[in-house]
Amino acid sequence: MKLVFLGPPGAGKGTQAAKLAENFNLKHASTGDIFRAAVASGSDLGNTVKSYLDNGKLVSDDLTAKVVGEMVLDRESDFILDGFPRTIPQAELLDNMLEERGQSLDGVIYFSLDNEDAVERLTGRRVCDNCGRNFHVKFMPPDKEGVCDDCGGSLIVRSDSSLDIVQQRLQEYDAKTKPLIDYYSNKGELKTVDASDSPDTVRAEAEKIISTITDSE
Ligand code: AP5
Repeated sequence: MKLVFLGPPGAGKGTQAAKLAENFNLKHASTGDIFRAAVASGSDLGNTVKSYLDNGKLVSDDLTAKVVGEMVLDRESDFILDGFPRTIPQAELLDNMLEERGQSLDGVIYFSLDNEDAVERLTGRRVCDNCGRNFHVKFMPPDKEGVCDDCGGSLIVRSDSSLDIVQQRLQEYDAKTKPLIDYYSNKGELKTVDASDSPDTVRAEAEKIISTITDSE
């Protein structure tokens, strides 16, 4: 199964994709995670994308599509693309890359959330520096402050979580990513989940959608 998770920064795409990928035996492929790992490793890719991530700007369409082609489509047959595509040109590149491989998307889940809620979620997010699990100081606090429930790693603040960078990321989303809602809706591929609900409710809604897609295959 090939799914795209769409939605503003902070909608909970990463939180949900991690669990749903596990439940449905899919690869969770996050372009943000791929880029952050590249920056941390000091690779050529990391050096190229670092200033984009630090400033809340989107990496170029061609480079992002190339990375997805090589690191996801060439390697995995069942996946959730979390954070790709993020522009109309990226969606067209994805269509072409799948077509070249004789494949197509099975569905797009749009996690809708207004900007005010997104800001509160992003500025309160904490991430495990060892396993990558997401927490939130108010909405999803760990059992012990600063410590990951799963692996005992330290919880850190992502470098693009300051208010000015969060606002920049939301501007990029409004200008470049929002048009994808119509793009996928017009193709009949979009299903919407109200991401302002509790994490469990959001997951249950997304699970229902994925199960329906599985049943229709
Ligand atoms: P990326 O890592 O993809 O960031 P993003 O889309 O901005 O998404 P986030 O990870 O910030 O939010 P999320 O929706 O996953 O929410 P989360 O689950 O963490 O991209 C980072 C950067 O990489 C970009 O700025 C860009 O530079 C580059 N990049 C990536 N892809 C690219 C592309 N395709 N093209 C070009 N550049 C690209 O949840 C957020 C918080 O809310 C957490 O604290 C969580 O605990 C909490 N939370 C989650 N769900 C709920 C809930 N239901 N209720 C209450 N709190 C909740």
